[in-house]
Amino acid sequence: MIIAIDGPAASGKGTLARRLAAHYGLPHLDTGLLYRAVGHAMLEAGLSLEDEAAAARIAARIDPAAYDEETLKAGPVGEAASRVASVPEVRKALLFLQKSFAHQPGGAVLDGRDIGTVIAPEADAKLFVTASAQARAERRWHELLKRGEQLGLDDVLADIRKRDARDSGRSSAPLVQAADAMLLDNTALGVEESWQQALALVAARLGDR
Ligand code: DC
Repeated sequence: MIIAIDGPAASGKGTLARRLAAHYGLPHLDTGLLYRAVGHAMLEAGLSLEDEAAAARIAARIDPAAYDEETLKAGPVGEAASRVASVPEVRKALLFLQKSFAHQPGGAVLDGRDIGTVIAPEADAKLFVTASAQARAERRWHELLKRGEQLGLDDVLADIRKRDARDSGRSSAPLVQAADAMLLDNTALGVEESWQQALALVAARLGDR
């Protein structure tokens, strides 16, 4: 049983994916962490994010477990991740790991941008989670404040819009709702309501499984 969750930055897809994984007793992969690990390794090595060959080399031997999640979740790493994620060779290097995770016995939950379209088009249930850019920026801004990163809301909104444009506009596996994905727009929903709706949609699609 494969559950695929896609959506833009700060849509809450990660939280929903984790809760769905716990609910169904499935392992969960946050695929954004793979791209973040590559972006972080590039920054750490002082490499230019324009250096596509270096990014592809790093992606081919990346071990996301080598970095702690806190480091990978930092703002600048997200921007670097989005940049390297537009390089087709980087995406190709990370494909096998993601497909293997999706197809492990028993199934899995994966969240990202291209799970329902590229990584697991045959997924049993696909959710496309989104919210207005303003709502997502406010959530991200609160998250960053809690983390001690002091940024203006306008800057966070500009960053979200830039990331949306890059993730949706790239030619290689752009962020797009799969034709058979169920849409969950949680702009006006709280965390708990969003979870209830996500669970209802997925449970209805999975039937008795
Ligand atoms: O979900 P996130 O914000 O942690 O992802 C960081 C970046 O990685 C995102 O801007 C685009 C890229 N990404 C991707 O291209 N494909 C995925 N399946 C997951 C993330």
